[in-house]
Amino acid sequence: VFSTLNPVTDSDVTHFTRILSPSSVLSTLSPVSTPHDELDIYNTDWMGKYRGKSTTVLKPKTTEEVSEIVKWCHDKRIPIVPQGGNTGLVGGSVPLKDEVILSLANMSNVRSFDPVSGILVADAGCILQSLTDYVAPYDHIMPLDLGAKGSCQIGGNVSTNAGGLRLLRYGSLHGSVLGLEVVLPNGTILDQLTSLRKDNTGYDLKQLFIGAEGTLGVITGVSILTAPAPQASNNVILALPTFDNVVPLFKTVKRQLSEILSAFEFIDRTAYNLAVKHGQGRALSDEDVEGAECFILVETSGGRREHDEEKLADLLEHLLEADKPLINTGVLAQNPAQFSSLWALREGVTEAVSKEGKAYKYDISVPAATFKQVVDTTRDHLRSKGLLNEDAVKHVLGYGHVGDGNLHLNIVAKAYTPEIQAALEPFVYEIVASHRGSVSAEHGIGAMKTHALPYSKTEVSIALMRKIKELFDPRGIMNPGKVLE
Ligand code: FAD
Ligand code: MLT
Ligand code: ZN
Repeated sequence: VFSTLNPVTDSDVTHFTRILSPSSVLSTLSPVSTPHDELDIYNTDWMGKYRGKSTTVLKPKTTEEVSEIVKWCHDKRIPIVPQGGNTGLVGGSVPLKDEVILSLANMSNVRSFDPVSGILVADAGCILQSLTDYVAPYDHIMPLDLGAKGSCQIGGNVSTNAGGLRLLRYGSLHGSVLGLEVVLPNGTILDQLTSLRKDNTGYDLKQLFIGAEGTLGVITGVSILTAPAPQASNNVILALPTFDNVVPLFKTVKRQLSEILSAFEFIDRTAYNLAVKHGQGRALSDEDVEGAECFILVETSGGRREHDEEKLADLLEHLLEADKPLINTGVLAQNPAQFSSLWALREGVTEAVSKEGKAYKYDISVPAATFKQVVDTTRDHLRSKGLLNEDAVKHVLGYGHVGDGNLHLNIVAKAYTPEIQAALEPFVYEIVASHRGSVSAEHGIGAMKTHALPYSKTEVSIALMRKIKELFDPRGIMNPGKVLE
C-alpha cells in the first residue's frame, strides 16, 4: 500500500508552516527541526507495541486547516494517520512507516449543546471526560464511558466505534451519533453534522465513518445524543464460586433489576488479583474473595434511590438465599468513594495489565458461556508449547462485557516475542471462528488484525469494503495498511 506514496519533504513542511500557526507544526525536517524525541509520544502507541517513524506531526485548529492539509497531502500523495488521544489498542493510531500524523488535539471546542434534546455538537478533538464534565451541570451524561476517558477523544471514540462500559444501557455509537463532519481524503469537507433524531434520506453515509479507524477521512466534528443523567447510581461486586454461574446470574439479574440494570461486567480471578496488585481500587476482604473463581460488577442507574436500593437488596437476598446460591457474597458500595473504588477494580484491569508486562490483547465476541473455556484453552495451549513461565507468558486472563458477549482475552508476557505471537495466532482466531464470533468486538482492526479479517468476514464483505475504500480514497493516503491490508 505504500508503493505509490511519498515521504514528507522540507518543502512540504514549509508549506505546512504557511497553513498552520508555528506551534502547530512539529517536524524533525527543515525549517522546523523539532528534536526527534519530541515526536516519540506520537509515534508510539499506548501499549508500547507499535512504533512509527513519522517526521511530522500537524495539529490544526479548524476544519478548514484540516482540509488544506489533506488537500496538499492528496496532491502530493503523502500518507496521513489521523490521531486522537492515542489510546487505541490495535496499533491504528500510529504510523506504520513515516506517514504524517494529523493530531486533533487542538480541536477541542464544544460547538453547541441543547439541554432539552440532549444533543451535543463538539469538535472531534474534545476529550471524552471533558465532554462528560461539560454536560454534567445540565444533568446529562455521555452515552459512552471507558477506562481511557481522561485521554481518548470523541473523534477517536467514533472512529473506533468504541463500546465500553455503558453499551448495555445506551447502545452503540451507530445509534447515538446523529451527525458527523468529515474531511474526505481529497480535502473536501463533508458536512453531515445534523442534529436530527430522524433522517431517512437515502444512504446513511455517516455510518461508514463510525468504526472506519481513520481510513476513509478525518472526522472533525461530532453530533451526539447525550442521555439524561440517572438520579441514582449504585454498584455491587458479586463473587462467584464458579464461572458456570455467570450466565444464569445474568439472566436472574436482568429479570430482577430490569430497567435499572446499567452494567454487567466480568473479571476473572487473575484479572482481579492484578487490579489489586497494581493499586486499582480497594481490595475486597479476604473473606469476600475466598473461593471466588470470578467476579461480576453490577451497576444500577435509575430514577429513585430508595426504589433502586430496594431492588438491589432484594436481588442480593434472593441470590444468597437460593438452595444453590449463584454467588458467595456481594459487596455493595455504601458511598460514592466505594462506588468508584469498585468500578476501579474492573476499569483498572487494562492499566494493571500494562504495568504487569507486555499484553497481547484479544478483544473478541464469543458466547458469554464460553468465556472461561476460551481463556483456559489458550492457557493450556501456551503451557503445551512450554511458554507459560515467568520468562515468557506470566498470565492468561479474561475480563469484559458479558452483556455484550465481549471477552477481553489478555496474555501478559515478559516481552513481545515471535514465539508467543506464533503460538497465539492463528490459534485464538480459529477459536473465534469456531464460534462464528468476531476477532474485534470493540477495539477495531488497526494494524494488528488486518490479516485476521477473514476469520470474521466473508470474502464478499471484504471485497465490498475494498470498493468503499477505493471510492473514498483512491490514492490510498488515509491511514494506509490499517483495517485493510
Ligand atoms: P486513537 O487511539 O488516537 O485512534 C484510534 C483510531 O481512530 C486510529 O485508527 C486513528 O487513526 C483513528 N482516529 C482517531 N481520531 C480520528 C479522527 N478524528 N478522525 C478519523 N480517525 C481518527 N475501547 C473500547 O471500545 N471499549 C473500552 O472499554 C475501552 N477501554 C479502554 C481503556 C483503556 C485504559 C485504553 C487505553 C483503551 C481503551 N479502549 C477501549 C480502546 C479505545 O479504542 C480507545 O480508548 C478510544 O476509543 C480511542 O480514542 P482515541 O482518541 O485515543 O483514538
Ligand atoms: C475494557 O473493557 O477494559 C477495555 O476494552 C480495555 C481493554 O480491553 O483492556
Ligand atoms: Zn472493553
